[in-house]
Amino acid sequence: MFITFEGPEGGGKTTQITELAHWLTAQGLSVRATREPGGTPVGDQIRGVLLRPENQMHAATEFLLYSASRAQLVNTLIRPHLERGGIVLCDRYADSTLAYQGYGRGLDVSTLHMITQFATGGLIPDLTLFLDIDPEIGLKRREHSGEGLNRLDAEALDFHRRVRSGYLTLMNADPERWIRIDADQPLAAVQGTIRTVVQERLQQRGILPDSAG
Ligand code: TYD
Repeated sequence: MFITFEGPEGGGKTTQITELAHWLTAQGLSVRATREPGGTPVGDQIRGVLLRPENQMHAATEFLLYSASRAQLVNTLIRPHLERGGIVLCDRYADSTLAYQGYGRGLDVSTLHMITQFATGGLIPDLTLFLDIDPEIGLKRREHSGEGLNRLDAEALDFHRRVRSGYLTLMNADPERWIRIDADQPLAAVQGTIRTVVQERLQQRGILPDSAG
């Protein structure tokens, strides 16, 4: 089962994924948690290029670098783990490209789809958890987190608003795959909702027994 986490900046995806991975592992499941861009040695080098604030780049270059990192991750980590029957949790995936490079930057969404299909071999998540937060609140959280702003964080608020509304468009087009979770809540409440949703999906597939708690 392939589960992705999406959403604007500052929605707390990373913390939530770490906790979910521990919880699933404690139930005896084989879990790999990874992230985009990055997640592989080659991908981590591409991540450095993509996120360095001083790297000015054309939107097409940006898109192709995200796609290159994704191709490496899908082929060397995600698919092999899914083929072994494991669960993969991924912090961002192809929907980030549609939201940021498509709706945010204005690149043609159908072209992005085509190249993404090539990069991923058509791998689509089984479940996508959308940790939704008002971009203004999310960016403030990011600023106060002490992590520093990366090249994309530093874009104008308008860009981040287009990204969020792009996500809503994607979600509405595929409501079976997407679940929206309000991320402007205490971490424990968000984690509780995530576990309920994931447990239900795993039970539906017979991966967890009905009694798992
Ligand atoms: P990261 O620090 O991982 O941000 P976050 O914690 O919000 O996930 O940085 C990843 C950045 O890259 C983030 O701003 C979103 C952006 N991004 C794209 O623009 N396109 C993509 O395809 C992906 C995967 C990420």
